Amino acid sequence: MKAAVENLKLNFKTMEEFTSFKEYGLEELSMLEELQYTMVEDHSHSPFYGIYFGDQLVARMCLYVKTNGADLLPNDSDRYLEIWKLEVLPQYQHRGLGLQLVNFAKSFEIPILTKARVKSHDFWRKMGFTPLSENSSRLYWDPHTNQKQKIS
Ligand code: COA
Repeated sequence: MKAAVENLKLNFKTMEEFTSFKEYGLEELSMLEELQYTMVEDHSHSPFYGIYFGDQLVARMCLYVKTNGADLLPNDSDRYLEIWKLEVLPQYQHRGLGLQLVNFAKSFEIPILTKARVKSHDFWRKMGFTPLSENSSRLYWDPHTNQKQKIS
């Protein structure tokens, strides 16, 4: 059975799991600092989503809802999503998990922005993302121009 995309609770266990990912960095460290400061173990909602195999977190992304898109996006849409830190652990790549996370984001049916890492441009092109403007490293997906794409 296909594992589901889950919202990741920000607790010390998740923080420990994040250290397996290459893109682990400042953002997680500041969340950890906040956790240590407040000593709250179990926030109910976080911007992180992921996929578990058994009890191992094997894929994750950070998904933010933004509301300042009108000046930025081609279709005057105010609300959009931003994907950060999409990453699948090396031994779990090429099994459709990256696609599953991107499809989860697409299922909200609002525009999506992301920044491609050096070697991931072809992946994003396959996902239907195009540069926001000429020579821009920011990539864009619009539900209205991609209505025929299957969301599964
Ligand atoms: N270049 C070109 N195509 C790629 C690709 C790449 N680097 N990675 C995957 N694809 C293709 C697959 O072949 C597949 O196409 P198909 O359906 O025609 O066979 C499709 O994209 C979906 O692949 P999937 O198995 O869902 O991708 P994945 O789970 O391996 O995840 C990444 C892809 C890029 C997220 C993963 O390789 C990764 O974590 N890389 C390191 C971090 C990174 O570059 N993140 C990018 C966002 S910043």
